[in-house]
Amino acid sequence: MLQPHPTRFSSRIIGTGSAFPQTTLTNSALTQRIDTSNEWIVERTGIRERRISQPGNPDELNSSLGFLAATQALKMAGKTPQDLDQILYATCTPDTLIPSTACWLQSKLGANRAWAMDLNAACSGFVYAVSTADQFIRSGNVKTSLVVGGDVLSAFTNWSDRTSCILFGDAAGAVVIEQTPLNSDRRILSSHLKSDGNLWDLFHIPAGGSKLEITPEVYQQNLHKMQMKGKEIFKVAVRTLAEYAVEALESNGMTLQDLNWIIPHQANLRIIEAVAKRLNIPLTKFIININRYGNTSSATVPTALDEAVRDGRIQPGHTLLLDVFGAGLTYGTILLRW
Ligand code: UT7
Repeated sequence: MLQPHPTRFSSRIIGTGSAFPQTTLTNSALTQRIDTSNEWIVERTGIRERRISQPGNPDELNSSLGFLAATQALKMAGKTPQDLDQILYATCTPDTLIPSTACWLQSKLGANRAWAMDLNAACSGFVYAVSTADQFIRSGNVKTSLVVGGDVLSAFTNWSDRTSCILFGDAAGAVVIEQTPLNSDRRILSSHLKSDGNLWDLFHIPAGGSKLEITPEVYQQNLHKMQMKGKEIFKVAVRTLAEYAVEALESNGMTLQDLNWIIPHQANLRIIEAVAKRLNIPLTKFIININRYGNTSSATVPTALDEAVRDGRIQPGHTLLLDVFGAGLTYGTILLRW
C-alpha cells in the first residue's frame, strides 16, 4: 500500500448547498409516456418524483444549478467567490464538452483567483472530487476549494426506455472545503477510490464522444443516450457499497457502530435497503432523498448532505460515511467528522 505523504494540514467541509430545476416529473406523469405505473416505480425503486431541467432554459443548465448550489455553500461557509483557489466540478453531463462546466461556473461566480476543472466519475464523481480537493488541500497547494456535483441526466435519458427513464433526475449540490490544522476535530478522515473499467458496458453512452459521432443513424438508435444493464449494476452496487463501507471504517480502526450517518449514492431505494440488511444496521442511519429526486448522479450525495445539515440531523461531532458507485464502474467512500 502507498504511504501518504506527511502533511501539516487536514481539510474540512464548512458549507453546503443544493439546487433543483423547477419542473417536477411525477410517476403518474411518466405513465402518459411509457407503459409503467406509479405502484411499480415506487415498489421497485422508491422513487415518487424527480426534477427535470427544461431544455433551453438558461437558469436550468448544469452550471446554473451548480451556481445556485455553490452560492448557498459559500454563504454557509462565510466565503466569497474571491476566496476560492480551486473549483472542481464533478459531472458526466457537462454544459459543453469544452469549455468545462467548472469554467462556466467560474465565470458565473466571478471566482477570478481560482483554477477550475471538471472531473468525470459518473455517479461517483462528487466523492472523487472531494477526495481530489482533500489531496490538494493537505499538500498545501490549495486553501479553499469549491466542489460541485451536478448532472442533467434528463438530456441523456432515452425517454422511451421504461427500464431506465424512471430512475433519473437533475440537480446540483456543492460544498466549500477549507484547510484546517492537521487532525482537527472536524475534518475529512480518509477517502478511498476504486474503479473497474472492465465493467464499462453495465452503464454507458456509446455516442457523442470522439469514439462515435452522432449521425442520423446513431441518433435514430438512441446511441447518444444512456444504455443500462440495471439488474447487473444492482448486484455489484449492493456488494461494493457494503464491502467498501466496512473497508473504509477498518482502515480508520472504526466499526459501523462509530457511524452516525451513511450517505449513499441514491440509485434505487432497494439497493440502500439491501446494503442496510447486509451491514445489519437500521435504515434510519441512512440519509435518503431518492423518493423526491430520483437518481441525480453526482448530485445525490451533496444534495442529501446539504438537506441533513440544514434540517439539523447532522450535528457537530457526528461521523459520516459517503458511499458511492457509478458508471465506469467507479466506487468511492469518504469518512469524515462533522
Ligand atoms: O447510477 C446508477 C446506475 N443504475 C442503477 O443503479 C440501476 C440499478 N438497477 C435497478 O435499479 C433495477 O434493476 C431497475 C429499477 C432498473 C429494474 O428493476 P428490477 O426489479 O431489476 O426489474 P427487472 O429488470 O427485473 O424487470 C422486472 C419486470 C420485467 O418484466 P417481465 O420480464 O418480468 O415481464 C420488466 O419488463 O418489470 C418490467 N419493467 C417494468 N414494468 C413497469 C421494467 N421496467 C418497468 C417499468 N414499469 N418502468
